[in-house]
Amino acid sequence: MNIRLSKRIQETGTYAFAAIDEKVAFLQSQGVEVIDFGVGDPKSPPPSFVIENLNTAAEKRKASGYPSYIGSPDFRQACTDYMQREFNVTLDPETEICSTIGSKEAVFNFPLTLVDQGDIVICPSPGYPPYRKGTQFAGGQVYTLPLLEENHYLMDYASVPQDICDRAKIIWINYPNSPTGAVATDQWYKGLIAWARKNNIVIAADEGCYIEIYFDEKPKSILEFGKEGIITFYSMSKRNNMTMFRIGFVAGDEKIVSAFKKVKTNIDSGTPTFIQDVSIMALEDTSHIMQMRNEYAQKRKILLDAFASRGLPRCQSASTFYLWQKAPEGKSGEDLANTLVDIGIVAIPGAAISHPTDEGINPGEQFIRLALVPTMEEIMEAADRIVHRLTI
Ligand SMILES: Cc1ncc(COP(=O)(O)O)c(C=O)c1O
Repeated sequence: MNIRLSKRIQETGTYAFAAIDEKVAFLQSQGVEVIDFGVGDPKSPPPSFVIENLNTAAEKRKASGYPSYIGSPDFRQACTDYMQREFNVTLDPETEICSTIGSKEAVFNFPLTLVDQGDIVICPSPGYPPYRKGTQFAGGQVYTLPLLEENHYLMDYASVPQDICDRAKIIWINYPNSPTGAVATDQWYKGLIAWARKNNIVIAADEGCYIEIYFDEKPKSILEFGKEGIITFYSMSKRNNMTMFRIGFVAGDEKIVSAFKKVKTNIDSGTPTFIQDVSIMALEDTSHIMQMRNEYAQKRKILLDAFASRGLPRCQSASTFYLWQKAPEGKSGEDLANTLVDIGIVAIPGAAISHPTDEGINPGEQFIRLALVPTMEEIMEAADRIVHRLTI
């Protein structure tokens, strides 16, 4: 039989992070002791009370059937309380919150709420791959806005040509930013909101993944500056080391959240209710977050010092658990990633998670991304290899 794949699948390459997993598996099969800074998947477990309460929650919900599509009332109330406590943002759990199966599905499916064939979605580059793929699978077109060092990695929305603005439905923003670690300023948020409202462009802010992993000032939520025309995406994956649990939520403008619920009820059946139950506890707890933040700060310093000792630029960022490390003058991110592989260190070349602009500039070309997820011992071992064996 001739199985004819859809054009969208034929045109889809390997998911950037799947390629990294393959590379790690290959090196390991060759007997290399690999330290993997590739995928941003924390190796540490969730807080112990989450695991301890799983059984009780499963017992309580054992005959509850399918979960709610939009999240249990208790979970949505916990999300509302969280946003009030952390950002002083008041939301209605009935209309302005919806649970997700983690941010990936939410980000990928979100364009279905607003995008018709040929509409434009403005995406950052480098950026989380589902911003682009979700747009394309929904029939939209991507306009690439680069994150540049000279702009402190803030998207230069004012540079988007008017004919693109006229066709654009969504702008994806991601601050605290993966991979650059940049945090947006109040002034930037205010300017962006005014620009987006003038052009009738919805702001989709993928902000909640790393918003509590910061090193200096606490980052703000865009919802502190307004709600109309804005939807935010929150995830418990990195905040609580709960990538495996698949849970998060969206919050924002009631009209947009309502459209998102409609998409969601047609696509999935929600996160298991017993997982929502233990997630409420995780959302309420702040002590384990402080500990996590301190640990990432230590890991970041160890690696920054190691790279600096070899004459590489010190790329210190304000937030997230990523290092967006620049290669030495005259070398590419790919060159740097390859020399690191030679000493058993896996990082993602920036170009693998960034796309060229219409002018042909690839903003990730000179960089690599390292996710600070290995254990402290592994980080120290990696630093030792960099200091004594890196040749670039
Ligand atoms: C910027 C960003 N957004 C969203 C996600 C998705 O997180 P999850 O689907 O685990 O909630 C990630 C995961 O790495 C991310 O880096």
